[in-house]
Amino acid sequence: MALTTDLCRRLGIDVPIFQAPMAGSSTPALAAAVSNAGGLGGLGLGTVLPDKAQADIRATRAATNRPIHANFFVHTPPRDDAARADAFRQRLAPYYAELGAGAVPPLADAAPPFGDDTLDALLADCPAVVSFHFGLPPVERVRALQRAGAFVMSSATSVAEARAIEANGADAVIAQGYEAGGHQGSFHDKVGADPIGTMALVPQVVDAVRIPVIAAGGVADGRGIAAALALGAQAAQIGTAFLTCPEAATPDAHRALLLEGTPTGTILTTAFTGRRARAIVNRYARDMADARDLPDFPLLRSVTAPLAGKAMQGGSTDFSAFWAGQSASLARAAPAAELVRSLAAEAEAVLARLRA
Ligand SMILES: Cc1cc2nc3c(=O)[nH]c(=O)nc-3n(C[C@H](O)[C@H](O)[C@H](O)COP(=O)(O)O)c2cc1C
Repeated sequence: MALTTDLCRRLGIDVPIFQAPMAGSSTPALAAAVSNAGGLGGLGLGTVLPDKAQADIRATRAATNRPIHANFFVHTPPRDDAARADAFRQRLAPYYAELGAGAVPPLADAAPPFGDDTLDALLADCPAVVSFHFGLPPVERVRALQRAGAFVMSSATSVAEARAIEANGADAVIAQGYEAGGHQGSFHDKVGADPIGTMALVPQVVDAVRIPVIAAGGVADGRGIAAALALGAQAAQIGTAFLTCPEAATPDAHRALLLEGTPTGTILTTAFTGRRARAIVNRYARDMADARDLPDFPLLRSVTAPLAGKAMQGGSTDFSAFWAGQSASLARAAPAAELVRSLAAEAEAVLARLRA
C-alpha cells in the first residue's frame, strides 16, 4: 500500500515524512538525502545570517532536484533590559569561575529575525517550501513567497495559533506538540499556560482549520507516522529521530546520549535560550529549574553557549543544550535515506495491519 496523502501529491514528494528543519543540526547533506529518498528534507536557517542561509539552500539544491524546505525564525526582537541581563550574568558567574571560562560576556544578538534581506534572497531563488517558527511573518511576505512559488507553513502549538496562521494566508500548519525536541514554536512563551501534547493538539487543529496539518512532536517510527495520519495530519515532521543520522551535524556526545536512550530524560526549559525548548536533562537544566525573569531569546544563548563549549572541552555535557524530543530513545543510527525508507515501510505495515 502506497503511503501518500494529498499534501504529498501537492508537494511532489513520495511519502509524508518531513525531516524537521533543525537550526545547528540539519545540514544540506541531511536535507538532500531525505528529499532524494522521497521525503521532504529541511534546513533550519533561523540562527544564521542571510548569506549562509543562501549558501546552504544552494548546497542542498546542488545535491537534489526534489523539493526542499527552508525554515526561519520570526520571533519578537529581544528587549534591551540591562537590569535583567546583569542579574542573569551574576547568576552564571560562579559557573564561569568553576570552569575557568573568564568573565561572563555581555549579551549579544547573533541572528535577527527573518528580514527583508533574507526575503529578497528567497524571492530570487525560492525553495519549494518555506516555514516560520515563533509567530507570523507579515502577510505581504507570505504572499510574496507564494508568488515566487513557495508553499508556506508556520508552526502552531495551540488551536488559536493554528487559526491565526490560516488567517495569515499560510498553505499549511505544523501542529507541534509538547513532546517535540528543540524549541516550541509558540508565538509567546506564556508562563502558566500548559503546552499541549501532539495527540491532543493535532485532531483539534485538523478540525479548526481548512489547510493541511503536519504533526510534529514525539513521532520517531512508523507507528508514530500512522498515528499522525490517523489523527488527520497529512504528514509528520520528525526531528529527533534524524539527529542520529550520520548526515546530521550532531555533536558526538549528543549522538551518544540519544543512542543510549537519554538516560536522564528530557525537559522543557527556557534556561538555555530564553524560549521554551526541550533538551536532555543535565546539571544546568536542573539547576535552572526555578529561573525566572531570564533575558529574552535569543540573547540568553550568547552567555550559555560559551559555558557549554568550555565544559565540552573538558568532556562534560553539564551545560550543553542537547535538544531532544520525548521519543528520543527510539533513535537509531541509520543513514537518512535508509531511515526514510524504514519509517515509510513501518508506517505502511501498521496501516495495513489496522485495515486487515
Ligand atoms: C535539534 C533540534 C533543532 C530544532 N530546530 C528547529 C528549527 O530551527 N526550526 C523549527 O521550526 N523547528 C525546530 N525544531 C523542532 C522541529 O521542527 C520539530 O517540531 C520537532 O523536532 C518534532 O519533535 P521530535 O523531535 O520529537 O521529532 C528542532 C528540533 C530539534 C530536535
